[in-house]
Amino acid sequence: MHFLVTGTAGFIGFHVARRLLRDGHTVVGFDGVTPYYDVKLKRRRHASLNQMPGFSAVEAMLEDSDALLGAAEKKKPDVVIHLAAQAGVRHSIEDPESYVSANLFGMLKVLELCRAIQPRHLVFSSTSSVYGMSHKPEFVESDTTDRPVSFYAATKKSGEVMAHSYAHLFGIPTTVCRFFTVYGPSGRPDMSLYKFVRSILNDEPIDVFGEGKHERDFTYIDDLVEAIVRLVDCVPETGNPVAQDGVTDSLSLVAPYREVNIAGGKTVGLMRYIELIEVILGKRAKLNMLPMQPGDVMRTTASPALLKALTGYQPETDIRKGLEKFIAWYLDEIHDAGRASR
Ligand SMILES: NC(=O)c1ccc[n+]([C@@H]2O[C@H](COP(=O)([O-])OP(=O)(O)OC[C@H]3O[C@@H](n4cnc5c(N)ncnc54)[C@H](O)[C@@H]3O)[C@@H](O)[C@H]2O)c1
Repeated sequence: MHFLVTGTAGFIGFHVARRLLRDGHTVVGFDGVTPYYDVKLKRRRHASLNQMPGFSAVEAMLEDSDALLGAAEKKKPDVVIHLAAQAGVRHSIEDPESYVSANLFGMLKVLELCRAIQPRHLVFSSTSSVYGMSHKPEFVESDTTDRPVSFYAATKKSGEVMAHSYAHLFGIPTTVCRFFTVYGPSGRPDMSLYKFVRSILNDEPIDVFGEGKHERDFTYIDDLVEAIVRLVDCVPETGNPVAQDGVTDSLSLVAPYREVNIAGGKTVGLMRYIELIEVILGKRAKLNMLPMQPGDVMRTTASPALLKALTGYQPETDIRKGLEKFIAWYLDEIHDAGRASR
């Protein structure tokens, strides 16, 4: 199949494109290589994809409709996987406009593209942050998600509802994937894992927000990619819910559209997470305990039932193994490479 994947210079888009290429598909990667974090890392990801047969990259912004259309014109994509976005909860307080531009305006451009080219399936990345301050033991796709506590989540939720209206109006089969804290090799420098490892190695204190009481349903990148690849084949059809073994489908009654959680399946406390990093690095962290940050949520735990009912798959990577792989990558590509160039 032929895929258009946005965000391929980013963490998740890079891994998704690489897997699709390894599976023998062709991929046009679309990314504006924005300076939100080190563009050298983004360019390395694109350079690595460029070495694989079947890949071509378009470096442009989502907001540029002509560039998007151009990327789809060379060869019509069967499937569009839309991962490009302005990500990050904390940054959305400082620079909300960049979120409106990429996640609302850019989202509209992707939807307009899909309206024009009518792909077999649009897969869009949303976030666990849409569940806000929910105190439910497990977040289920049908839960209320219109009370976000970060502006980032507000823009991702808006993307979900925009996609629903386009799915209804123009018959675009759409799956919204709600990702839960994704980590792994080539991970984002603005996320806590990267910052913790860097600071511990440099003997600097790490900022532990929420006094260390946060809990997250961490998702290892290869598990996330496996789930996405399987969901590509689960094309939603209006009014055809999968109700097996008491699992509630989130399928819309009026559009070929559903939301699906993708999560690691085991919620881990922040202090346990730090302990594991210390053990793997063989080094203690200096902790700088801080109150909760505005926009942050205390806990995220996904119900994996719908993903399992649809795809037969449940993420399985043990957190320690996943952390070991991230740290091996960090030591090899960031830490040691940085020291060698000094
Ligand atoms: N990483 C996570 O834990 C996580 C959790 C929940 C949801 N998500 C979502 O998954 C998707 C991928 O996240 P990621 O972690 O790979 O982030 P990332 O920042 O590494 O990748 C996003 C990519 O989008 C590109 N981009 C941003 N704005 C753009 C624009 N206006 N036009 C063109 N390109 C633009 C960036 O250059 C970047 O390469 C995002 O939609 C994010 O909201 C990620």
